[in-house]
Amino acid sequence: MDKSKFIGILTSGGDASGMNAAIRAVTRSAIYNGFRVKGIYRGYEGLIAGEVKEMTTEDVSSIIQRGGTILKTARSKEFETPEGRRKAYEVMQKENIGYLVVIGGDGSLRGARTFADEYEDVVCIGLPGTIDNDLCGTDVTIGYSTALNTIMECVDKIRDTATSHERIFFVEVMGRDAGFLAQNSAIASGAEAAIIPEDKTDVDQLEKFISRGFRKTKNSSIVIVSESPKDGGAMHYAERVRKEYPQYDVRVSILGHLQRGGAPSAEDRILASRLGEASVQAIMEEQRNVMIGIRDNEIVYVPFIEAVKRDKPIDKNLIRVLDELSI
Ligand code: F6P
Repeated sequence: MDKSKFIGILTSGGDASGMNAAIRAVTRSAIYNGFRVKGIYRGYEGLIAGEVKEMTTEDVSSIIQRGGTILKTARSKEFETPEGRRKAYEVMQKENIGYLVVIGGDGSLRGARTFADEYEDVVCIGLPGTIDNDLCGTDVTIGYSTALNTIMECVDKIRDTATSHERIFFVEVMGRDAGFLAQNSAIASGAEAAIIPEDKTDVDQLEKFISRGFRKTKNSSIVIVSESPKDGGAMHYAERVRKEYPQYDVRVSILGHLQRGGAPSAEDRILASRLGEASVQAIMEEQRNVMIGIRDNEIVYVPFIEAVKRDKPIDKNLIRVLDELSI
């Protein structure tokens, strides 16, 4: 480990609440341990373009409570090319950045992995930052808890109108190809069902779930649908129910990007602080090409190759819990 080299920090991919808390933690812990830090703006795009600025402890004051990312974020096509990564490497050399902390999701950590494979003197450390919670090797990701709470609050509100009008609502939530947000928000908000990519639901099965809501005094049903380009999302299910079960008054609500913003929950702030601090510890232990994760409340180092596997399993017990509790 070489303290004459800077630690660079960037955020990449979809923003997630708690990214600022992570930026703060990496910056402060790095400075505490005798490193200097450079913030890289707009993710890999900014790295390629040389949008870099030295960070002080003051630069990260009063950001722990803010959603989004002060460093901005982007999804970089250019970084997917060898030429783009070469430019990024040259900027790192010029700026004397020897360590790169990448805060982002699956695509961002994939990029970090390729970069570190190509340039052996680049040390990349990943922090799992995505509302989707779809990175393997960590129980949770930064931003997931806040997004889950936001969805729960929205569904609570939707329940009021659903009950008043005796309607079925299909509420579409984010998660890309993973159903963590949908399944857990359904449990947290007392929804009648969740449709997730990990567990196929056919339309007749759905009617069984919906009618449960109508047996309750509330006379409403809420189905949380995980966004999925393959299944067509909430609109698709709503159309099918409208057609096959015309007795129901159906509405759709797509929560969209409001799920990504807002002040991070206490859980996300603490998680981001712990993971950010651990990223500097990992650098001092001469780790490279690992994502810092948390398992059973313990910090773990997860090789990039494992973190981005794309098959993080959803706990099947959660499906049973929702099923039993929504009768
Ligand atoms: O990966 C985070 C995420 O919010 C996904 O849940 C969603 O599918 C995607 O990003 C949306 O991306 P964008 O903001 O580019 O529309």
